[in-house]
Amino acid sequence: MDQPQNRVFSGVQPTGNLHLGNYLGAIRNFVGLQDTHECIYCVVDMHAITVWQDPKELAANTREVAAAYIAAGIDPERHIVFNQSKVAAHAELAWILNCVARIGWLNRMTQFKDKAGKDREKASVGLYAYPVLMAADILVYRATHVPVGEDQKQHLELARDTAQKFNNDFEAPDFFPQPEPLIMGPATRVMSLRDGTKKMSKSDPSDLSRITMRDSSDDIAKKIRKAQTDPEPLPETLEGLEGRAGADNLVGIYAALAGKSKAEVLAEFAGAQFSVFKPALADLAVEKLSPITNEMKRLMDDRAYIDGVLEKGAARARAIADPVVARVRELVGFI
Ligand code: TYM
Repeated sequence: MDQPQNRVFSGVQPTGNLHLGNYLGAIRNFVGLQDTHECIYCVVDMHAITVWQDPKELAANTREVAAAYIAAGIDPERHIVFNQSKVAAHAELAWILNCVARIGWLNRMTQFKDKAGKDREKASVGLYAYPVLMAADILVYRATHVPVGEDQKQHLELARDTAQKFNNDFEAPDFFPQPEPLIMGPATRVMSLRDGTKKMSKSDPSDLSRITMRDSSDDIAKKIRKAQTDPEPLPETLEGLEGRAGADNLVGIYAALAGKSKAEVLAEFAGAQFSVFKPALADLAVEKLSPITNEMKRLMDDRAYIDGVLEKGAARARAIADPVVARVRELVGFI
């Protein structure tokens, strides 16, 4: 079985409130990899249901993430765009990998601790086993590169450990490659606009904490205007951002949207008050995000098109995944 050298896999959960962190930390980087890699971009609906999802909303949110991928510039003809539940190989490999990965590894996952909260006994078994399904997503395509935001780094390490242990346990050296995380750009961890020490997230109760891919220009401007900062002007150097989480976050967002480094942004705005910087950031955000938001809306109105993309993508995904699972079955000893 040939091992491709440049195969990318990544996914986004259809849990609503797709936000600027998802765009800058992940989706935008997915777009950039299309010229150099063979890309597989998945809407991970099976991950979404590890926490209760209203079925109608799950379907709408699945189409929304697919629309966001395409509106952001992913070409579903050249690359593969599909939703996870259409390709049974993910679930099949996940079960086998559940028997390879160790409970001790899962017990160290910080995202489970955060998401399960205080009442861990009441979390679903799926939420706990989530990182193993994620390993299966990647390994079922024998993907070599995985573009993600920083919060997924620990899950990627678990995927690498699981691949290694599978190869050892079944005496199949190099069968699964070690997938490389690609954590790229100045916005690998976009923070909440209300609290610069907390990650921007889909589940924050405050809508003001995030800019979403559905926000109007007015919403974007309002949220940036109200973003938490401090009374000092912007510093000249990166060191001057230390201990100023809100300011650091806005500079990072500006840099990512402008395609510059944070140092370049500071060189431009050193000494500026937020009364100057925030409107400049709002203008830039509207300029970059509105075309995507508008195109997403247009695509969402064309359900037949989106569903067709997902169906065709799933067929192409199965064509890669099924032979891998067939070989895994042999290695494990299933007849
Ligand atoms: P999800 O749906 O939480 O997030 C999708 C992507 O967005 C990134 N991200 C962020 N980046 C920067 N700043 C933020 N505040 C921010 N919030 C989210 C995430 O790092 C992610 O890249 N487990 C994954 C989905 C997944 C997956 C996979 C990813 C399932 N299987 C296999 C890669 C490979 C998740 O929950 O992403």
